[in-house]
Amino acid sequence: MKTLITSAVVLSCLASAAFAAQAQSFEPPSLGPTVASPNYVGQNNGSLAKSPVVTGKVFDRFIQIWLENTDFATANSTAMFRTLAKQGILLDQYYALTHPSEPNYVATVGGSFWGMGDDNFYNIPTNISTIVDLLDTKNISWASYQENMPSDGFSGFSFTSPNYITPSAAPYTYYMRKHNPTIIYDSVALVTSRAALHRNFNDFAADINASTIPQWLFVTPNLVNDAHDTTIDFAAQWLQYWLAPLLQDTRFNDARTLILLTFDENESSSINNRVFSLLLGGAVPASLHGTTDSTYYTDYSALSTVQANWALGSLGRGDTNKVMSNVYSLVASATGYVNNNLSGASIPLTNASGTTPGPLNPLMFVPFPPPNISAVGAGGGPVFVAPGVSFAALPSPVNLTALNETVPALNTSSTDAPGVEAPAPSESGAGKVQGCAKLVTLVGMTVGIVLASP
Ligand SMILES: *[C@@H]1O[C@H](CO)[C@@H](O)[C@H](O)[C@H]1NC(C)=O
Ligand SMILES: *[C@@H]1O[C@H](CO)[C@@H](O)[C@H](O)[C@H]1NC(C)=O
Ligand SMILES: *[C@@H]1O[C@H](CO)[C@@H](O)[C@H](O)[C@H]1NC(C)=O
Ligand SMILES: *[C@@H]1O[C@H](CO)[C@@H](O)[C@H](O)[C@H]1NC(C)=O
Ligand SMILES: *[C@@H]1O[C@H](CO)[C@@H](O)[C@H](O)[C@H]1NC(C)=O
Ligand SMILES: *[C@@H]1O[C@H](CO)[C@@H](O)[C@H](O)[C@H]1NC(C)=O
Ligand SMILES: *[C@@H]1O[C@H](CO)[C@@H](O)[C@H](O)[C@H]1NC(C)=O
Ligand SMILES: *[C@@H]1O[C@H](CO)[C@@H](O)[C@H](O)[C@H]1NC(C)=O
Ligand SMILES: *[C@@H]1O[C@H](CO)[C@@H](O)[C@H](O)[C@H]1NC(C)=O
Ligand SMILES: *[C@@H]1O[C@H](CO)[C@@H](O)[C@H](O)[C@H]1NC(C)=O
Ligand SMILES: *[C@@H]1O[C@H](CO)[C@@H](O)[C@H](O)[C@H]1NC(C)=O
Ligand SMILES: *[C@@H]1O[C@H](CO)[C@@H](O)[C@H](O)[C@H]1NC(C)=O
Repeated sequence: MKTLITSAVVLSCLASAAFAAQAQSFEPPSLGPTVASPNYVGQNNGSLAKSPVVTGKVFDRFIQIWLENTDFATANSTAMFRTLAKQGILLDQYYALTHPSEPNYVATVGGSFWGMGDDNFYNIPTNISTIVDLLDTKNISWASYQENMPSDGFSGFSFTSPNYITPSAAPYTYYMRKHNPTIIYDSVALVTSRAALHRNFNDFAADINASTIPQWLFVTPNLVNDAHDTTIDFAAQWLQYWLAPLLQDTRFNDARTLILLTFDENESSSINNRVFSLLLGGAVPASLHGTTDSTYYTDYSALSTVQANWALGSLGRGDTNKVMSNVYSLVASATGYVNNNLSGASIPLTNASGTTPGPLNPLMFVPFPPPNISAVGAGGGPVFVAPGVSFAALPSPVNLTALNETVPALNTSSTDAPGVEAPAPSESGAGKVQGCAKLVTLVGMTVGIVLASP
């Protein structure tokens, strides 16, 4: 970061606030979710091969769809979310783990947010395991579908495309790496066959048509459709366009599909971080449609639930933390897993940012810890130990900022989209990244937007 900022052109707060104020109206990016779109730079690159289905106890496919920065009450009072709630189970005690966005994404696939308290460009080292290792152990197929990602396996910081909503406007940054959790882990990104499973929405359309949607999916809509730069009503229109038809399409949602629709964080850090979350899909029995499950869940529950369903091993991190990793009741009751019954004031506060020591916290840096190999997760299997893991004792936290150093995993060679840089993503609201967006230029070449640390 230091190097970049030395030669940076820093925009004033006023200028980025003006971009943030731009109102946008929903436009379908394509004729439908299964139709190829010229609005995406990334064209289809061939559909996935069919893989044998590995049967789980409650579901054979788990789909996560993450929207952005919305208070529970805001989603709960929006018609589309009420309509969807009638078709599934409302999880009304689901909490995000921290602020801002990126650490929540990183945690839901890796079992830790590693102390991260910002949205920077990180490369988490190859000896740090993720859900991908656990799925691969049992040959459970997976993919990350990222709207507006330009090419399969793209690992750049962001991507800026022609503005399909307002074609006369400047190109727009629709894609951000910070919302594509598995690519942030080098144990995934640096393995070619794994990197290729980060696919765009034109690939998604082809995979639906070929009936090759895998068994574990992470779906990230673009920065307007996920409400990040827009409003809950905009995201609701996207759900009507994208999710509503797919719920009726058995190539996506069949009787053995469980869908988690959630938000990365709520809008305010002054209160605990509850987010509106729904379980949808054919695996939810009709008798539970329109019900509410008030069990305490966090982003780690998506790991523990998947582990319980397929009797997987664990990561030996937050996914095995008995306080924070309750398994969705639907699955816990079928697998015999006993959840804790935390409620009210005994639910941990997870609304602070940057206060947890870790390898991605420059103020309280400790190296990456090894997994806890004594831990037992909800799937009952062994803790996955990646090649190259060191079990050496960890030193006490160090303040790297005071030493004028950055965390080793911080990547300053942000490879952004070719072409014109877009307006700074709007990050307003107390829970979002505070401060001004900085447009960073190096020897006359635009390399990306770095958000100031909170
Ligand atoms: C969500 O909205 C519904 C309908 O207005 C209401 O009955 C319910 O109490 C709300 N849930 C919560 C947890 O606020
Ligand atoms: C996974 O697939 C590979 C290659 O087809 C095979 O060798 C291996 O036995 C499979 N593992 C399991 C657990 O099915
Ligand atoms: C297409 O897929 C191949 C193999 O995974 C990959 O090498 C290539 O980069 C992809 N191209 C695009 C444009 O996605
Ligand atoms: C930074 O990220 C880019 C793109 O993912 C990657 O090619 C490069 O190796 C990374 N640099 C470091 C030091 O990890
Ligand atoms: C998928 O099939 C539909 C219906 O046949 C068709 O309209 C659409 O173009 C197909 N999409 C792709 C990506 O081939
Ligand atoms: C944040 O979550 C709390 C519940 O924990 C909720 O009451 C509140 O509405 C949310 N956001 C804001 C801005 O208050
Ligand atoms: C987190 O929420 C609690 C309860 O509303 C509040 O007292 C506390 O100040 C908040 N913490 C932060 C860092 O905003
Ligand atoms: C909550 O769980 C604890 C320990 O598992 C148990 O002792 C207690 O009775 C439970 N409370 C309720 C209200 O279910
Ligand atoms: C590791 O897991 C075991 C079993 O759950 C637990 O007793 C122990 O406290 C954990 N160790 C650490 C360092 O968290
Ligand atoms: C990961 O590998 C690096 C480089 O070999 C090593 O320094 C570090 O201790 C390892 N971390 C863990 C958690 O094993
Ligand atoms: C770390 O050092 C920086 C710069 O000297 C200082 O501003 C900050 O308060 C320190 N943080 C901690 C947690 O020690
Ligand atoms: C860090 O940089 C500042 C400003 O350049 C300098 O005053 C300070 O001495 C440096 N601290 C260390 C520990 O090198």
